[in-house]
Amino acid sequence: MINKADVVVGLAWGDEAKGKITSQLASTIGEDGLPLYDMVARWGGGNNAGHTVYVNEKKYKTHLVPSGVFYGVQSLVGPGCVLHPESFYKELDYLANNGFDTSLVKVAPNCHIVTEKHIAFDRKHLAKKLGTTSRGIAPCYADKAARVGSLAVDVLESEYIWDETLEGNLLCEGAQGVWLDIDHGLYPYVTSSVTLPYGACSIGFPAQKIESVWGAAKIYDTRSGEDPRFPFRLFDDPVLKVLADLGEEFGVTTGRRRKVNWLNLDMLIKAVNITGTTHLVVSKCDVMKKLGQFRLSYGGKLVRFLSLDEMTAYIERSVRERSPLIEFIRFSHSPKEI
Ligand code: IMP
Ligand code: MG
Repeated sequence: MINKADVVVGLAWGDEAKGKITSQLASTIGEDGLPLYDMVARWGGGNNAGHTVYVNEKKYKTHLVPSGVFYGVQSLVGPGCVLHPESFYKELDYLANNGFDTSLVKVAPNCHIVTEKHIAFDRKHLAKKLGTTSRGIAPCYADKAARVGSLAVDVLESEYIWDETLEGNLLCEGAQGVWLDIDHGLYPYVTSSVTLPYGACSIGFPAQKIESVWGAAKIYDTRSGEDPRFPFRLFDDPVLKVLADLGEEFGVTTGRRRKVNWLNLDMLIKAVNITGTTHLVVSKCDVMKKLGQFRLSYGGKLVRFLSLDEMTAYIERSVRERSPLIEFIRFSHSPKEI
């Protein structure tokens, strides 16, 4: 039985710098001189995700493998994930070539396999209509639900198959974000998995074991893919355009330009509450500062501030007023530190 699980979850539409938080937590050393976490695990999604991690000032991008591998910690692709073997092996090569120990990487035997057929279907029927990442995610989960899918245990080399031992402290690394969740996002503009922290229990532990929930947010909103709440005309707003450039808002997985909007604080507070976030990190504040304009929407109105400090104080006050579980709020800069 595990001791405890902490969860890192995205509070928006993905791309909230979860990788940064996970990597800071995964590299934490406990009082006993050992890493605080015994395993970092992902519970949902596949290589539609793109995680950016900085190790010793160097930038690494991964899509499938959890970030524990960067810090010598066991890294598990959980049973609720989907995995494209070719991409998986490619990522292992990339990690090994950069000196990381890929024997730490394990895949749950029941993890479903993304096939070329899934990818072809996604490309042909979904990519354009829904703005998917074309990684075969929806067709793979569809086959899983229809019970005609294939499993990692039957496809991958046995050295990568997890023996299902779960012990010590677990760090669960979320992918995507709350508003892409299949049940809580704006269907059908969602992904096909559970992105909320309860999804982490699919790794195989009871909900009572979850202690801290680290919610990752950004000080402005971004969206890759289709979404009627993020209309294309946002691309025409000259100030938002500068914000997108300053924040380098391009997809890690697809290279697509992300739509950018002022932070919707009502949705952020809703996300904090639905996830049970105890530790909130709002990133990319330096980008806002560089822009020199400070706005967000709250209660359906656009609110303007004279400075970043004024804006962050307003966010902090509003979140604390409406989110009783919050213990800690941190406003951080991009890209490295919390
Ligand atoms: P799918 O997960 O590839 O089916 O894409 C469904 C929707 O989720 C699309 O709008 C994608 O842009 C979005 N999406 C999926 N994964 C990510 C991610 O890691 N970051 C941001 N958006 C994502
Ligand atoms: Mg991402």
